[in-house]
Amino acid sequence: MEEVEVIIVGAGPAGVATSACLNRLKITNLVLEKEDCCGSLWKKRAYDRLKLHLAKQFCELPYMPYPQGTAKYIPRNGFIQYLDNYVSHFGISPRYHREVQSAFYDSKMEKWCVMAKNTTSNVQEVYCGKFLVVATGENSEGYIPKIRGLDTFKGDFMHSSLYENGKAFRDKEVLVIGSGNSGMEIAYDLTNHKAKTSICARSPVHVLTKEIVFIGMFLLTSGFPLLLVDIIVVILSMLRHGNLSKYGFQRPRKGPFYIKQITGRTPTIDVGCVDKIKTGEVKVFPSIDGIEGNQIKFENGMVNHFDAIIFATGYKSTVNCWLKDENIFFNENGMPKPKFPNHWKGENGLYSAGFSGRGLFGVSNDAQNIANDIFFALNKRKRRI
Ligand SMILES: Cc1cc2nc3c(=O)[nH]c(=O)nc-3n(C[C@H](O)[C@H](O)[C@H](O)COP(=O)(O)OP(=O)(O)OC[C@H]3O[C@@H](n4cnc5c(N)ncnc54)[C@H](O)[C@@H]3O)c2cc1C
Ligand SMILES: *[C@@H]1O[C@H](CO)[C@@H](O)[C@H](O)[C@H]1NC(C)=O
Ligand SMILES: *[C@@H]1O[C@H](CO)[C@@H](O)[C@H](O)[C@H]1NC(C)=O
Repeated sequence: MEEVEVIIVGAGPAGVATSACLNRLKITNLVLEKEDCCGSLWKKRAYDRLKLHLAKQFCELPYMPYPQGTAKYIPRNGFIQYLDNYVSHFGISPRYHREVQSAFYDSKMEKWCVMAKNTTSNVQEVYCGKFLVVATGENSEGYIPKIRGLDTFKGDFMHSSLYENGKAFRDKEVLVIGSGNSGMEIAYDLTNHKAKTSICARSPVHVLTKEIVFIGMFLLTSGFPLLLVDIIVVILSMLRHGNLSKYGFQRPRKGPFYIKQITGRTPTIDVGCVDKIKTGEVKVFPSIDGIEGNQIKFENGMVNHFDAIIFATGYKSTVNCWLKDENIFFNENGMPKPKFPNHWKGENGLYSAGFSGRGLFGVSNDAQNIANDIFFALNKRKRRI
């Protein structure tokens, strides 16, 4: 059994940022990561053409700005490089191949016990710490909804996290399910690879552009009220894209930043798919009614043949698979129950980093809040002794 002050589960941006902040305060900590690298979401579960959706100033981790000359919207590889530099700069050495399988609070010892499987040797290891930071991500596992007849589908289907590029889909009839950021960008990528692409737009979305989002973020950080910013942003997107409802895209009644704040759901930031929809290169379908072999039937009664389906239907948190918390801090969806800005701190030295629904910007704030809070808790203890 190994003991440290703080155990951090997950070596994504949230885990390494928390570790960096703790290292600066000279608080011993250990990062456990199931994969063989940090930032596995970015290295292994993202499509090739991915770029950060937000301008770089909203995507920095604590105490390390992007080098001068970095592009405003950082490509996936640039972010990976930044993350690798970050890890070595702050002397973080995550324990890789450690899949945390259970963790509970021992109230007698007043410590968290964490059981991890060494996936290279299959040996169970036990770690102990006064503080536990959950940094396993809001996007831990791809989510595929239940669809009638999916088991009869004769073609290939996959979650968007396994999609790299459209090479394998040339001349194929491909249906992308979901009109969020991943869905719209993958549909765009597929057409660039000469696939016959359709997209299934199930729920209303705001379709913006990264420039419009940038203006919105700028106004918000300059102190403009959210409702006003939403009105401006919606007008800008109407001017840019026009009324998309004739193409099958409904706009939600509430504004994009309001929805982001309340539900964490991001607006769709178009990278070129809208133009392809307008020219008919990408077809739009409503929700699926059922699947039979290669035939997919939609809610409006249309039936179409497809060779492949890509589920860009989002992700889920997997905290409840290992954390024995009895739904005290995390709800049944593996998300913290307290709402922003109180989402990062639980009882008995439990914390969550990266669960604010605010991307890398939120990750950075969480890491600093958590490290400072632990610093104060430790000093209070010392003063008592
Ligand atoms: C396609 C895509 C694009 C995105 N683009 C942006 C963007 O442009 N800007 C932005 O701000 N945000 C973006 N995000 C959100 C992004 O998820 C976060 O910004 C960031 O990666 C979150 O970091 P994290 O450390 O919280 O989670 P993750 O990056 O998911 O890291 C969690 C880590 O925990 C590990 N782990 C999970 N379970 C266990 C376990 N039981 N034991 C040990 N280790 C475990 C995982 O292997 C992973 O390495 C995007 C997300 C996706 C999916
Ligand atoms: C666990 O895995 C590492 C590789 O990451 C290996 O070097 C180490 O010896 C293993 N530990 C045990 C106790 O098996
Ligand atoms: C968009 O067009 C639809 C009909 O195609 C109409 O019902 C709706 O009111 C229009 N929305 C706006 C904001 O003009």
